[in-house]
Amino acid sequence: MKMKLEIDGMEAEIEEGSTILETARSVGIDIPTLCYHPALEPFGACRLCSVEIEKRGRKKIVTACNYPVEGGLVVNTKSTEIIDIRKMLLELLLARCPEEERIQSLARDYGVVKPRFKLEDEHCILCGLCTRVCEELVGISAINVISRGVEREVGAPYRSELSDDCIGCGSCALVCPTEAIKRMANIYPTTAEDIREIEDRFLEGERDEELGVYSDLIAGKTHVSGQDGGMVTALLIAGMENNFFDAALVVRREEGYKAEAVVVHDVEGIKSARGTKYLRVPMMSKLEEAVSDGKRKIAVVGTPCEVRAVRKIQQRWDLERKFPGVEIIVLGLYCLESFDYEGLKEDTRRRFGVDLDKAEKTQITRGKYVVTVDGGDYSCDVRELENEVREGCPFCDDFVSRLADISIGSVGSPDGYSTVIVRSKIGKKLLDATEFIEVEVDKKEIVKLVKLKKRNADRNFAKILEGLETREKN
Ligand code: SF4
Ligand code: SF4
Ligand code: FES
Repeated sequence: MKMKLEIDGMEAEIEEGSTILETARSVGIDIPTLCYHPALEPFGACRLCSVEIEKRGRKKIVTACNYPVEGGLVVNTKSTEIIDIRKMLLELLLARCPEEERIQSLARDYGVVKPRFKLEDEHCILCGLCTRVCEELVGISAINVISRGVEREVGAPYRSELSDDCIGCGSCALVCPTEAIKRMANIYPTTAEDIREIEDRFLEGERDEELGVYSDLIAGKTHVSGQDGGMVTALLIAGMENNFFDAALVVRREEGYKAEAVVVHDVEGIKSARGTKYLRVPMMSKLEEAVSDGKRKIAVVGTPCEVRAVRKIQQRWDLERKFPGVEIIVLGLYCLESFDYEGLKEDTRRRFGVDLDKAEKTQITRGKYVVTVDGGDYSCDVRELENEVREGCPFCDDFVSRLADISIGSVGSPDGYSTVIVRSKIGKKLLDATEFIEVEVDKKEIVKLVKLKKRNADRNFAKILEGLETREKN
């Protein structure tokens, strides 16, 4: 049902349930906002969108972003009182965040140039956009507003520890109206500029639009037993035997199919982690623990989101400076999505009548999920497992671990082989130290999945970007 109301002397008509802000925008009236995004639940934190309403002869001030319209409402978005409220709010914000461009620009629009008082130099305005995008759209809830009163701030729940939940999707950095989120040390929002900077700093080779920076692309099989020609295991063994690293952070099945990140120090340890697990496990806290325990040359084997997190830590902590002598070699895996353990176990039981905890092997190959139990293979189309996909995966656009030193996966090679993408000097040294039989790669097959993953992520990011365009326009 449509509602009629008056806004700044104009008649407006809008669907019932819309807000004053939506109504104003539909008739081209600009109301400033800082904590609003159309794809997120309104929060009413900044109050910059305050407007005056008149209802049954009574006037009051409300926030336009979350006030539902009513028929016959009279709205004034530019009364002297409203302008004064916005000026005062902007003066406070400018006193709190004097270096933030968006605050400076909004303040200028309202004639506020220099606040009359000074508060702590901050960057975060506590608008809650980052926490809402992380919870409501990405589905991760890696960050929250923590503490109370003047201590209130945004961060991962344990502010002194690296987050094991953040997948580095960068959604929070996109919506943040300031630079605050990019300054947080224990999450890993990765922007397009970060990716460029990381590639320039750590990688070497030609820049390929689909596969990222790389120098070599091969398909190989080793004498080591392991999944898809044992390439990951063989690379790790070669790296350890040649002293490129003395510890490796790997994921190992611990209890049934349940897996855990562990630091291993020898060939036996590496072999104990053979086989692909399509689960997401806490990794970054384990890496932090290893570095704090004095480990200095570490190989990390991870999925694209874990690779991003490691690179962000290297980039922002400036790891080498903070912990002199630390060298990290990153082995990235191909990954389309990961699954929830309980969900995958239940689905596997329902579908095939077998226990995932007893699986000898799991594999996603040529669009099929294959689980091997007691020597028998059970398979289905991987798309049928959609409901068990972990939160956040639909926001990840990296299939081939573009920021790793060396990336490994089965797509693009014949059965029993792995495709390896070399992206840095140390990645190349690692491959050169490994014995393998080489065959040709079908690059087209990899590109197909690279594009599929990117297309899905782009679709999800579009909701965020559209909302930002509205913000810029107003
Ligand atoms: S970090 Fe940015 S998005 Fe998050 S509350 Fe602070 S200002 Fe808002
Ligand atoms: S980068 Fe993504 S997952 Fe990490 S805190 Fe930000 S929105 Fe959440
Ligand atoms: S309170 Fe409405 S935009 Fe912040």
